Amino acid sequence: MCIAGIFTYRKEEETMKIAVLGYGTIGSGVVEVIRTNAESIARRAGEEVEVKYVLDLRDFPEDPVQEILVHDYNVIAEDEEVGVIVETMGGTKPAYDFVKTALLKGKSVCSSNKELVAAHGAELIQIARDKNVNFFFEASVGGGIPIIRPLNQCITADEIQEINGILNGTTNFILTKMADEGADFDEVLKKAQELGYAEKDPTADVEGYDACRKIAILTSLAYGKQVDYEDIYTEGITKITAEDFKYAKKINSAIKIFGTSKKVGDQVYAMVAPQMVDSTHPLYSVNDVFNGISVTGNMLGDVMFYGAGAGKLPTASAVVADVVAAVKHQGENVSITWSAQKLEITPVDEMENRFFVRVGESEKEKISEVFGEVQMIEAGIAGECGFITPPLKEKEFVAKAESFATLITRIRVSA
Ligand code: HSE
Repeated sequence: MCIAGIFTYRKEEETMKIAVLGYGTIGSGVVEVIRTNAESIARRAGEEVEVKYVLDLRDFPEDPVQEILVHDYNVIAEDEEVGVIVETMGGTKPAYDFVKTALLKGKSVCSSNKELVAAHGAELIQIARDKNVNFFFEASVGGGIPIIRPLNQCITADEIQEINGILNGTTNFILTKMADEGADFDEVLKKAQELGYAEKDPTADVEGYDACRKIAILTSLAYGKQVDYEDIYTEGITKITAEDFKYAKKINSAIKIFGTSKKVGDQVYAMVAPQMVDSTHPLYSVNDVFNGISVTGNMLGDVMFYGAGAGKLPTASAVVADVVAAVKHQGENVSITWSAQKLEITPVDEMENRFFVRVGESEKEKISEVFGEVQMIEAGIAGECGFITPPLKEKEFVAKAESFATLITRIRVSA
């Protein structure tokens, strides 16, 4: 059963029936994108796309979707007419079971769910391969920005040397507002929550957990092996202050939170942390809720991906692009290089960075004695000094910083 004129187009035999799991922001966006761009989607997919079911625990009596709403996943899983399932539920329970069941039953799955992909990506890709269907997840990183397909299918002649990404729109919005308004974190977070830019519980965003899952996915794709997100050192933005921005501005820099991974020799490093970024850096101008991802290949050099990293229609656009790919590739698995073999991430202690440091004025004399040749920054803040260290391993920095009883903060400086 479907709603004629809204969810169906042309002849039944030319139609791919799909189901959408979760009618939240992204799921409802998927239905809207399919409805709005039905003709061009059909042209590109080679057949019509019809939403046969939407699964949600809730009812939507005022919405035409109510007519195709189901509360029992088995209705979808058991329906052989459904060839593609869109998973926009978020979290791993019950999304993991639903997606695995769908793939095992020979249905392709398109997911926007970074928690699911980061935790179970390798396994779900393998099941899709075994069943000759597809598991696509373009929207799981960077919202509407194409980055998964470029990494998997375009930048294939290169060794990826480095990925740096502003991967979280909420924190980028907060940091941009802190820079523009000279305000502190708590104040801007409160405003962002009032405006609906930050969740009531902002922990996953502001503590960097969301960006951590996203850089784990990108690093797994870059090196073809499973990166466990628990292995990635993750630091959020809650300790960044208005004073830090005063120093950053003095040296034409912004403060951003990056998901970073890089290969140095045989070692792969990965980290999520705030970075001081100078105005020549490609990610410096990525502001507000936008995301930006810079990828460095050993032949290609730098490429940059920029756009809406979140939001209903941009994210749904990426999900529906996956649906188009799944329809086009019926009966054919599109290979994704991401095996279950674990990629060992080198302990962060060994990673080399420069650090912006603030210490009390009373310890000024000690700075060059401990850190050698530093770049002092004069931001006019009484009672303290700010400076940038030469490159140091993280463990060396920690050892040296212990000499300072008045250490106020430290932020890494992006090269
Ligand atoms: N909370 C995420 C963000 C949503 O702010 O970027 C998109 O993954």
